Amino acid sequence: MAFFRPKEDRQVQVDFDHLPRHIAIIMDGNGRWAKKRGLPRTAGHAAGAENFRTIATYCKDIGLDYLTVYAFSTENWKRPAEEVGAIMGLLKKYLLEAIGRMERDRVKMEFFGDLSPLTPELRELCERTREISKHYEGCQVNICLNYGGRDELLRAARAYAQDCLDGKADPGDLGEEQFSNYLFSRGVPDPDLVIRPSGELRLSNFLLWQSAYAEFYFTDVLWPDFTKEELLKAIAAFQGRSRRFGGV
Ligand code: IPE
Ligand code: IPE
Ligand code: MG
Repeated sequence: MAFFRPKEDRQVQVDFDHLPRHIAIIMDGNGRWAKKRGLPRTAGHAAGAENFRTIATYCKDIGLDYLTVYAFSTENWKRPAEEVGAIMGLLKKYLLEAIGRMERDRVKMEFFGDLSPLTPELRELCERTREISKHYEGCQVNICLNYGGRDELLRAARAYAQDCLDGKADPGDLGEEQFSNYLFSRGVPDPDLVIRPSGELRLSNFLLWQSAYAEFYFTDVLWPDFTKEELLKAIAAFQGRSRRFGGV
């Protein structure tokens, strides 16, 4: 049992021996963070990307098994081309740096989402990151890129239907575990805790299937301001919950 005292002097107690196995974060609030400072939205995305690096490193340091972050949704293409371009540019910068530090960090990286609309250069960087890190053990970070929960479910349904047509699957036998294997998240346990900063109380198409029994934690703090202390507060809140999974 370890204790942590955040700024407002309210002691937060985190049991590091019983961390959630998988934390998922909707990294929201970059635009508002920038606006508050009179900066362009892109500056908020840069601060958000930097914070992702800090939080992912911290998750690895405390021994978390899985971290999944929502970086770009299937709906985010609706944003101005300039903003989308800036986000993709930050992604490239991040991946190049991550590849450079890979042997030191040894974090396994995966991508959830349809990467095909990305530029060939970005796709290649994602593939390289995945390839280099696939044998690492310990923390796995999943970056959701052009990810949408509904899109993921449709793709799974299509792939499954095709397997039935090809005689490789029988609809009468389909179970939850088998269906999960058609999702981007195949092999990854469901998130125990889903965190959404920025004050919005919605999922915005994130991990619809996987978060069926997740605990949710919402905070008004904007993503670039979401510190390690905020993460510990979320974990402490999670540890105070009673998960029943429909039982008693
Ligand atoms: C999240 O921050 C980043 C992405 C969706 C890519 P936002 O850009 O949505 O920030 P707000 O919600 O406008 O503050
Ligand atoms: C969700 O945030 C997607 C990511 C954080 C990547 P949005 O800002 O896109 O969600 P809405 O539009 O507020 O629902
Ligand atoms: Mg937003």
